[in-house]
Amino acid sequence: MALRKVVHADLHVEDLDAEVDFSVRVLGLEELAREGKQVHLGLVPGRAQLTLTEGGTGLRSFCLGADTGGDLASLRRRLEADGVPCRELADPFPGTPLALELTLGAVRVVRVAPQPDEALYSTPVDGPRPPRRGVAPADLDHVTLGVRDDAAMRAEVAALRTALGMRVSDVIEGAGGDWLACWTRLGAQHHDVGLLRCGPQDTLHHLAWRLDGADHLKVAADELARAGVELETGIGRHGVGGNLYAYFRTPGGNRYELSAEMPLLPGDRETPLVRRADAFSAFSAWGIARPASFSAGS
Ligand SMILES: [Fe+2]
Repeated sequence: MALRKVVHADLHVEDLDAEVDFSVRVLGLEELAREGKQVHLGLVPGRAQLTLTEGGTGLRSFCLGADTGGDLASLRRRLEADGVPCRELADPFPGTPLALELTLGAVRVVRVAPQPDEALYSTPVDGPRPPRRGVAPADLDHVTLGVRDDAAMRAEVAALRTALGMRVSDVIEGAGGDWLACWTRLGAQHHDVGLLRCGPQDTLHHLAWRLDGADHLKVAADELARAGVELETGIGRHGVGGNLYAYFRTPGGNRYELSAEMPLLPGDRETPLVRRADAFSAFSAWGIARPASFSAGS
């Protein structure tokens, strides 16, 4: 069963109504379904990329899309044989009839769900139908976890590799050899799941949406400014990872990234590039300082 990309995220939000209003009016998503204190939203009719659940902030789960031809039952048997607890979920969110939910480490709830091709290979004509509203991302792009310490990060990366076959693209090491950041991928895109050290507990660092390029980022930043949302940092280009970025906090309390031009790696490269934390331009290829607020998660 080939896993392709991040297709859905379920986030805690402090103020559900404010976050849904922001998601629809500024981000340009469509409200698809509402169940009590939970709302499902999508970029296209009928398929949710985002679920918001009222109470706190951070990540409840993220979902990796798999080819429909795969066998979820055989993946479940393999995971259970490896001691990874998992269970099947029916209709976890709109547009996805079945998912396998597994827990990696203490708090990482990861779902694997077969998806139609159009959910795995976004093209410009699959995006929001005109007229576009607000930021109008092309797709979800990646999830970056905030991890409390070196041991937790290494354990999480090992679990992503063993359970889900993910590969490590890059690692940033501190002076003592401890891991400060790590980026893992499913296919050729440089990262689908990133991990950054930020304390004191494991949480979401940011959820990233894919934009079409630099022009789209500019329009999106203008949309955010009109809505009174300040950028935390950006627009810039990451040194490690290489994508264009802009970061901001949503009204519900989570950090979002707008991402474009993520480089592709040879799919079979197994050995991560290991870089020192004091390397020039690790955060920004253009010399923009990493904001102090980045040490806090969502
Ligand atoms: Fe990111």
